[in-house]
Amino acid sequence: MTAGRFISLEGGEGAGKSTQATRLAEALGRQGIDARVTREPGGSEGAEAIRALLLAGAVTRWSAHSETLLFAAARADHVERTIRPAIEAGAWVICDRFIDSTRAYQGAQGIDDAAILALHGFGSKGLLPDRTLVLEIGPDEGAARASVRDAGALDRFAARGPAFHQDVAAAFRRIANREPDRVRLIDATGEADDVTARLIEHIADLLP
Ligand code: TMP
Repeated sequence: MTAGRFISLEGGEGAGKSTQATRLAEALGRQGIDARVTREPGGSEGAEAIRALLLAGAVTRWSAHSETLLFAAARADHVERTIRPAIEAGAWVICDRFIDSTRAYQGAQGIDDAAILALHGFGSKGLLPDRTLVLEIGPDEGAARASVRDAGALDRFAARGPAFHQDVAAAFRRIANREPDRVRLIDATGEADDVTARLIEHIADLLP
């Protein structure tokens, strides 16, 4: 049995993460790898229930601190019930968002990175992906794609202004610069096929 692997896809709104997660899993499947797609917030029954609390309602529904705790709680359930069992069974887990989304989105609201990582240590035993691929597109393109996808009904995060989304993008770049072995910035503009090929290039060293 080959070792299971854990890959997260990250980036701002409308970067094409969920499409690419599916495409990446299909490409791995063609190589005989059992690849499973999951997402955050969500990915287990309890975490999906927390997702509904997090994404609906007014932008101000949760404070940055309570929101950070809810994301950490959702992630703890997701890791324990879905991600770890799959990796232990030898599967590859492709996760649409993970801890770096909390570092970027809640970090952009003033929550300290060390506090976020400490919570992650407690809730999810500090599990980190083997590789994190940050999909980058221009902010205008992202907002346009997200609003088409959401048909104008943006969730609490997508509804924030452009300055917030620029802070989030900057935070992802900062994480990538600090952790170059794990985190890679990927040009996500252009044809979906070309983007998938770039993703595969950046996980090639992990393949059996
Ligand atoms: P998505 O399903 O469109 O990716 O929506 C999830 C939203 O939640 C997105 O706007 C990013 C936000 N989010 C955080 O703020 N912190 C997190 O830890 C995660 C996983 C998502």
